[in-house]
Amino acid sequence: MILHDLATAAMRAVDAEDAHRLAILGLKLKLGPRGPKDDPILATDLAGIALPNVVGLAPGFDKDAEVFAPMLRAGFGFVECGTVTPNPQAGNPRPRLFRLTEDRAVINRMGFNNQGLEAFAVRLGARGVGVVGANIGANKDSADRIGDYLTALTRLWGMASYFTINISSPNTPGLRALQTKGALEELLGRIAETRDALPATGAAPLFLKVAPDLEAGEVETIVEACAAHGLAGIVVSNTTISRPSLVSASAGEAGGLSGAPLMSLSTQMLGQFAQASAGRLALIGVGGIASGADAYTKIRAGACAVQLYSALAFEGPGLVTRIKRDLAARLRADGFASVSAAVGAH
Ligand SMILES: Cc1cc2nc3c(=O)[nH]c(=O)nc-3n(C[C@H](O)[C@H](O)[C@H](O)COP(=O)(O)O)c2cc1C
Repeated sequence: MILHDLATAAMRAVDAEDAHRLAILGLKLKLGPRGPKDDPILATDLAGIALPNVVGLAPGFDKDAEVFAPMLRAGFGFVECGTVTPNPQAGNPRPRLFRLTEDRAVINRMGFNNQGLEAFAVRLGARGVGVVGANIGANKDSADRIGDYLTALTRLWGMASYFTINISSPNTPGLRALQTKGALEELLGRIAETRDALPATGAAPLFLKVAPDLEAGEVETIVEACAAHGLAGIVVSNTTISRPSLVSASAGEAGGLSGAPLMSLSTQMLGQFAQASAGRLALIGVGGIASGADAYTKIRAGACAVQLYSALAFEGPGLVTRIKRDLAARLRADGFASVSAAVGAH
């Protein structure tokens, strides 16, 4: 543990993207931690998927499906890889990832840098046990963005525990317009059609990942479209383009903001989705989680499971174990026998 804390401290001294690359390398070399056995109170069900614990790794950390196994070993109950696009893509010019240390926040404008669907599929296809989701997206220069989602879904069918359709990255121009009514209807209609034509043996639940910057009325529209097309749930939320008051030097950088300043905005949005879906959809709560208390807040706001990413940059991989321990204690202190009993309990 001390070794990992030292490594985390050393990583803070280097450029944020280099630190991330080093972390991936270390994990590939099996230098990651091994978490303790899960407390059974943290086991839960996410849209029919049995999770050993409720705390997942959010996408963006393992974009190319290279380190899901060591991150499961570190203690995450599930790992979501991606976003993957059909063709490999370089993303935006560097620097494009900024740590806002004083704000416990991150700004990124990566732009879906990834090695493409083939490399991703080969790695995911060889996976062993554990819950691994695939987050799919569209290439920046694609002439048929909806077609990109269908291509990824078809190629990865039978390999992923679940799929997340990501239409909420602020770093691919025009992508978030897929969240508007007409575009969303077309997207989800075509996705459902493709899904229903694929072999039932590979069936996996589909989630939609949304931005926290939605306007009044959009929440209901999105919920109804997801329910109508048989999606299993919604991931709330991606990074925000808003800028709650920040003090760090990099606060003015363009891109999506994540980490502590996103916690209240994304949780409010989660609560709105919980109200609109009234139990019809499974919600994954993500945005600003850095403690067991934060994870518990998301669950009580309606999340069946939670994910985090940014806090790892400040706390290191041992964070997941601390969050789980604290969450289990909070559930017991409030008399809940399971995570699911606490979902949406105000
Ligand atoms: C560097 C970075 C890259 C990200 N890349 C993706 C991505 O490729 N796809 C995606 O759906 N979300 C991506 N995200 C968003 C996270 O999955 C998550 O929704 C967001 O950061 C809020 O959670 P957090 O505050 O715990 O980081 C990225 C976030 C960061 C910080």
